Amino acid sequence: MFSTRTAWPREPNALALAVARRHAAGLPLSDLTVSNPTICGLEYPVAALRDAIALGAAERYDPAPRGLRSAREAVSETYARAGVAVEPDDLFLTAGTSEAYAHVLAVLCDPGDEVLVPVPSYPLFDYLLRLAGVRPVAYPLRYDGAWQVDLAALRAAMTPRTRAAIVVSPHNPAGVYLAADELDALAGFCAERGLGLVVDEVFRDYPHGRESTVPPSAAANSRCLTFTLDGISKSLGLPHYKLGWIALSGPATARREAAGRLEIVTDTYLSAGTPVQAALPALFTIGARIRAAIQGRLRSSLAVLDAGTGGDSPLTVLRADAGWSAILRVPGMRTDEELAVALVERHGQLVHPGHFFDLPIAGSVVVSLLAEPAALARGLAALRDECADVSR
Ligand SMILES: Cc1ncc(COP(=O)(O)O)c(C=O)c1O
Repeated sequence: MFSTRTAWPREPNALALAVARRHAAGLPLSDLTVSNPTICGLEYPVAALRDAIALGAAERYDPAPRGLRSAREAVSETYARAGVAVEPDDLFLTAGTSEAYAHVLAVLCDPGDEVLVPVPSYPLFDYLLRLAGVRPVAYPLRYDGAWQVDLAALRAAMTPRTRAAIVVSPHNPAGVYLAADELDALAGFCAERGLGLVVDEVFRDYPHGRESTVPPSAAANSRCLTFTLDGISKSLGLPHYKLGWIALSGPATARREAAGRLEIVTDTYLSAGTPVQAALPALFTIGARIRAAIQGRLRSSLAVLDAGTGGDSPLTVLRADAGWSAILRVPGMRTDEELAVALVERHGQLVHPGHFFDLPIAGSVVVSLLAEPAALARGLAALRDECADVSR
């Protein structure tokens, strides 16, 4: 009766079972995987947000496949402020960035086609691609003191069924930006082979260092057909407002064809809500305060990480440029899942085992930099204890 592409295994893994046992026993659990900015103790300008949405609540319904013009102009202005020209007509609003992926896949791929995806990665692509009937083909990111996209491996992974390459910049969880010369090389490859380039920039506003180190947005790329994805989930800390977008760029003929097709897909669903679209110009202003609060949290967390790792500590932090996560290398006496389970059971601390993201590094865990600094410090202490206990 059911489709094979939704036949995912649903049995809880050992970590999920340990978490469930801890909750059932009524014991506290400190969640160091938290990726929801609305629940990590940051102050939200609630009254201003309410006023902005109230504006939209008064709007009549005026269906627009690409999204309300006023909202697309507001997105275009944010690109312009970063020095990138994106016409409102090249923008398509969606109900979140995940949905933007689904629309791009619908435009580029038939069932059975392949798309190149980065590994390690946030475990979203397997679901999104399989739902579209598309086969994910992995290309690696490698770590040798810094993360890099292995462009040679990406090229080698191409087959006659490949339709597109996905890049996440900065990457989640590796935190590396695609450098300008890498983007250029990749765009040249995609142009030559007739592939679409999909660049996810949802964490772009969260560099760990200076803003001046952030490479230009892929939305400025005109060498190949490019779909730059972003949204307010991360950039404004508003995941519950469900608004993302696709910025189209590339050679005029391909861009026109892609726009025509995307318009039919977005018209089919008309899924971005009117109130949030109408509120978007105001949300960009209000959300800048939320973004600044998140950036402040990231700075505090990075300082806690600095103090709690390196030196005599058994923990080392992998170098990252940006994003909301940190990858920690821990002595590899056991699997990272066994370590994560022990942390839940013995210390009441929840971290992601590296294999959750297919990290190619034995003995790695991922923590969220959104966690409250005191909680992160306690988590690192527990991790150090746990590593010391095992090596004794
Ligand atoms: C890299 C990346 N892209 C896209 C998304 C999904 O964004 P949205 O909440 O707008 O669907 C996530 C969610 O965490 C993400 O990590």
